[in-house]
Amino acid sequence: MITDCEKTVRKILKQIPGKTNATGMKYLCKLAQSLADVPGWFIDLGTYQGRSAMVLTVASLGEGPARRIISIDNYTNGTKGGQPDFWTVKRRFKCRNRAHLVVGETDLIPPIVQGAQVALVFVNVDHRREQLDKDIAAWKPLVEPGGIMAFDGYGSDRWPDVQAVVDEAMGDWTRLDCTGNVQAFEKG
Ligand SMILES: C[S@@+](CC[C@H](N)C(=O)[O-])C[C@H]1O[C@@H](n2cnc3c(N)ncnc32)[C@H](O)[C@@H]1O
Repeated sequence: MITDCEKTVRKILKQIPGKTNATGMKYLCKLAQSLADVPGWFIDLGTYQGRSAMVLTVASLGEGPARRIISIDNYTNGTKGGQPDFWTVKRRFKCRNRAHLVVGETDLIPPIVQGAQVALVFVNVDHRREQLDKDIAAWKPLVEPGGIMAFDGYGSDRWPDVQAVVDEAMGDWTRLDCTGNVQAFEKG
């Protein structure tokens, strides 16, 4: 089954408050679908209430139980709404066994992912240089050939570090589109 990204994003927007915009979510959904042949985890850095995590999860519904998603957030900086009831979020989107919330720093690789393959990393954490550098250093080496890293906030006047850091750090990967402030790169 191929997920209808338009419909999926409309449903998620209605049910989960969040920071990733509709255009960025649709793009993320398409990126996730494009990776059907690349094995490994989908990693969502910056869970907030679970919006981008559910995009990645629903986008990979047709791939059966193999595709698993980890979403990481520390919930320590006064995140509005606090930590969501992720169990309920997952039940709504019928993905109880595939998606996991890890409470912690996004630049620390959770034990469950250590040594495992990674197909996609979506970075939507703290859009300032210091954290971006840490997240890229931690996750970029783990992505499989053909896999993708995508960054929210690219091209935004509010978060100029994103474009600057990402352009410096990702120059050795293939640049894909930037849509809805989400810039993606594919590992060659
Ligand atoms: C922009 S929001 C994420 C939006 C979410 N991806 C969505 O689709 O709605 C950023 C999140 O990153 C978390 N965060 C900020 N710095 C962090 C860090 N160093 N480690 C883990 N989480 C962090 C915040 O708690 C916040 O929930």
